Amino acid sequence: MSYQNLLVEKRDGAAVVTVNRPDKLNALNDRTMEELDRVFTELRADSSVGGVILTGSGGKAFVAGADIGELSAQSPIDGKERGIRGQEILERIENLGKPVIAAVNGFALGGGCELALACHVRIASENAKLGTPEVKLGLMCGYGGTQRLPRLVGKGRALEMLLTGEMVDAQEALRIGLVNRVVPADRLLAEAEGLLRKMLANSPTSLRLTLRAVNAGLEMPLREAQVLEATLFGLLCTTDDMKEGTKAFLEKRPPKFSGR
Ligand code: COA
Repeated sequence: MSYQNLLVEKRDGAAVVTVNRPDKLNALNDRTMEELDRVFTELRADSSVGGVILTGSGGKAFVAGADIGELSAQSPIDGKERGIRGQEILERIENLGKPVIAAVNGFALGGGCELALACHVRIASENAKLGTPEVKLGLMCGYGGTQRLPRLVGKGRALEMLLTGEMVDAQEALRIGLVNRVVPADRLLAEAEGLLRKMLANSPTSLRLTLRAVNAGLEMPLREAQVLEATLFGLLCTTDDMKEGTKAFLEKRPPKFSGR
């Protein structure tokens, strides 16, 4: 499939998706959002791909937000529709069933910060800056940021970011748990790939059901979430991967997972 605003590379089970509008700091216009939706739908169905790294083109930005040119012209109906569409696309990324790592290589602002929040893990380069500056535009987060940010960093820290609209640098993002690691810019993709490959060495079925337990479980009361966890745990006991993983351990050899 061809994309105007994305670069897609697949190697040895890992896909790298790069938002590619560097002259606009990779801002998410409607076309880019539609392409993100398409590429993640394709990657979900592609059994040769076990996980995804999402990054931005050029050394300056991951994604500098929704496209302000498009936002400036929107009616209230357009605004609501664009918000719902964006929320659905990010939910599909969050629920891909395969790990998605955001390699935050510069500005991750507004919709770009929200996109990174929808990914499962965030690694930042030392020059990264993250923030939700929508309030400076008379707007607010519209792609789930008011919900995912407090769930990740806590309500107080999230509200400080959401209400000031100020950016945090990579070290501050690390300190508050907004990103998992900070690495030199020239190591970012290698670190992201190294982390993804550690995940991909495990059973893909275990990864899928773990993601489901965490994503769905966090929306439930603890007791119900634990019932879900036990059910998924039981389901894994029916898989070839569980038989292979436990057998390989007892035979003191690396497992060969089939994903079944
Ligand atoms: N939407 C549309 N275009 C954007 C954009 C966005 N969110 N962010 C940056 N751009 C464009 C700029 O308009 C500029 O385009 P031009 O060269 O055609 O004028 C180009 O990207 C480079 O940005 P510029 O502002 O010149 O770079 P900078 O280094 O001076 O500043 C930022 C970088 C990130 C601080 C600044 O671009 C910015 O504040 N962007 C908007 C961030 C934002 O509010 N995001 C939330 C949107 S809801």
